[in-house]
Amino acid sequence: MRVFVTGTDTGVGKTVASAWLCLHTGADYWKPVQSGYPPDRDADEVARLSGARIHPERYLLRLARSPQEAAAAEDLRIGLDDFSLPQTERPLVIEGAGGVLVPLNEDETMLDLMARLSAPVVVAARTGLGTINHTCLTLAALRARALPVLGVILCGEANQANAEAIEHFGNVRVLGHIPPLTPLSREALLRVSPVRETLEWVRWKP
Ligand SMILES: Nc1ncnc2c1ncn2[C@@H]1O[C@H](COP(=O)(O)OP(=O)(O)OP(=O)(O)O)[C@@H](O)[C@H]1O
Ligand SMILES: [Mg+2]
Repeated sequence: MRVFVTGTDTGVGKTVASAWLCLHTGADYWKPVQSGYPPDRDADEVARLSGARIHPERYLLRLARSPQEAAAAEDLRIGLDDFSLPQTERPLVIEGAGGVLVPLNEDETMLDLMARLSAPVVVAARTGLGTINHTCLTLAALRARALPVLGVILCGEANQANAEAIEHFGNVRVLGHIPPLTPLSREALLRVSPVRETLEWVRWKP
């Protein structure tokens, strides 16, 4: 199946969580919109960390800004019809840009892309102070659009109280926790075990 990895913010660990999912499930990886390239290319980091097969971005944009602004700077307008799912026999991990309400154009956001690709959503979130609010707001936005939520992957120093609060107030499962890894390597990510349910969901063929 396919899974759309979004986040509570930019820089929360979506790429690392995506690589971790690919590594443990054999999924391919696709980042439909990459901004800040060069030097930023999340697909390269996922390839390094997981060896996953990479599907090329639909948009590789130079400015490290929202997709709407980065596209406009190149006289482009991103439209939902520009995107079609890569063909693969394997599961597919799709990484969003930023969080759920990041604009793609003047009236559509990442939420519209998730709906268009009809992929169940995993939310990458920080473990520390502020995460309960950010994660629950993100979940509320996803549910307001009736997008299916598989669960949350927590990234950072373990914080059991926050994990429990997210499960309780967000009415959601925490599917995994990726601690800070030094060095951040494929071997280190292999040692972070996912809960069985996560693997089954990602590997599941409808
Ligand atoms: N578990 C971890 N251990 C060590 N470093 C990490 C870990 N998770 C994330 N990082 C580092 O934190 C930074 C942000 O993580 P990441 O790139 O995964 O975030 P992101 O949500 O994908 O950001 P973007 O919105 O730019 O796509 C990166 O430099 C990454 O290497
Ligand atoms: Mg990323």
